Amino acid sequence: MCLLSLAEMLFVVAGMLAVASFGEACTPSVTTVSGTHAPAVVCSGQLIFADDFNSLDVEKWQHENTLAGGGNWEFQYYSNNRTNSFTHSGNLYIRPSLTSDQFGESFLSSGHLNIEGGAPADRCTNPQFYGCERTGTPTNLLNPIKSARLRTVNSFSFRYGRVEVRAKMPAGDWLWPAIWLMPAYNAYGTWPASGEIDLVESRGNRNMLSNGLHIGTHEAGSTLHYGPFPAMNGWERTHWVRRNSNGYDKNFHRYQLEWTPDFLRFSIDDVELGRVTPGNGGFWEYGGFNQNPTVENPWRFGSKMAPFDEKFYLIINLAVGGTNGFFPDGVTNPSPKPWWNGSPTATRDFWNARGAWLPTWNLNHNDGQDASLQLDYVRIWAL
Ligand SMILES: *[C@@H]1O[C@H](CO)[C@@H](O)[C@H](O)[C@H]1NC(C)=O
Repeated sequence: MCLLSLAEMLFVVAGMLAVASFGEACTPSVTTVSGTHAPAVVCSGQLIFADDFNSLDVEKWQHENTLAGGGNWEFQYYSNNRTNSFTHSGNLYIRPSLTSDQFGESFLSSGHLNIEGGAPADRCTNPQFYGCERTGTPTNLLNPIKSARLRTVNSFSFRYGRVEVRAKMPAGDWLWPAIWLMPAYNAYGTWPASGEIDLVESRGNRNMLSNGLHIGTHEAGSTLHYGPFPAMNGWERTHWVRRNSNGYDKNFHRYQLEWTPDFLRFSIDDVELGRVTPGNGGFWEYGGFNQNPTVENPWRFGSKMAPFDEKFYLIINLAVGGTNGFFPDGVTNPSPKPWWNGSPTATRDFWNARGAWLPTWNLNHNDGQDASLQLDYVRIWAL
């Protein structure tokens, strides 16, 4: 203990006054937050979450560890490995690599992967779809690509706010980058009843056409998923794309979300891409679900923004392929799409065509930057 001098006491009093006046300057916000990295008090307009990626902060970003394939039988194995996720010169990189680089090629058709770890940080994060343990066979190959998926599930979730992510999309056939948000607590039930907010998704193919439109690197899209169960999902009414003939892989762009108690709006580089302002019937009416009187509305006691009136957390990942139709059958690509979306051997068909797609990833050039999803920053502000 020590006694304070008069000067020190004045200094302390001045500091308390400064805190008090700062407190008065805080206009309460409608935004709510939770998580280990959430601010205790949220003021209107405040920056409530940010990362400039000067280092890889694994307390903010939990790595997923799973073979689950995103529920779409995607071809990647997500793990916590600095080959696949790292920061360099102030940017985050998510870079794909070949599983065979680590385990050898024959491992894909004969090996056994049990990725459940003993340390708390090594736990398998998604057991669905044989996500924690798989055995390779000649027709059912192990996930041939390694990649990363990072999320703020423990560190930060929020309801309402403004999001801006400055990012560069990857180039390379069948790469599927995504920066998106998922509900923290599934307040209205399992997917898609509690919603999904896709800030940006794209496809890495440099020259892929579908019905005459370039749907590869020239296209970026945003989507909302919502519905009472998976077969009833209103996403087609809340899906927007923009084409840029330079390609979203050539430059960094700012992908933005404005999410308020009245609307959700997506923009790219400050130009609005799409917006939903539901009426009093909320997303139930917006999705046209009210046409079906036998289905119960899970949002009937929520606000008109339900399910988008609960907290969401951020996810950043680089997926590959998959059989859900994100890569439609029948696209025109310099080398044809090597798997059908109905194929039970899609992974094998994809891997067997590596002579066609692997050269488009340029993994041996410039540290694999072409095929990497790159982020300059993530910023989230309170309303
Ligand atoms: C990380 O990935 C590299 C490249 O695939 C591999 O050689 C290495 O063994 C991996 N590290 C761990 C701990 O799995």
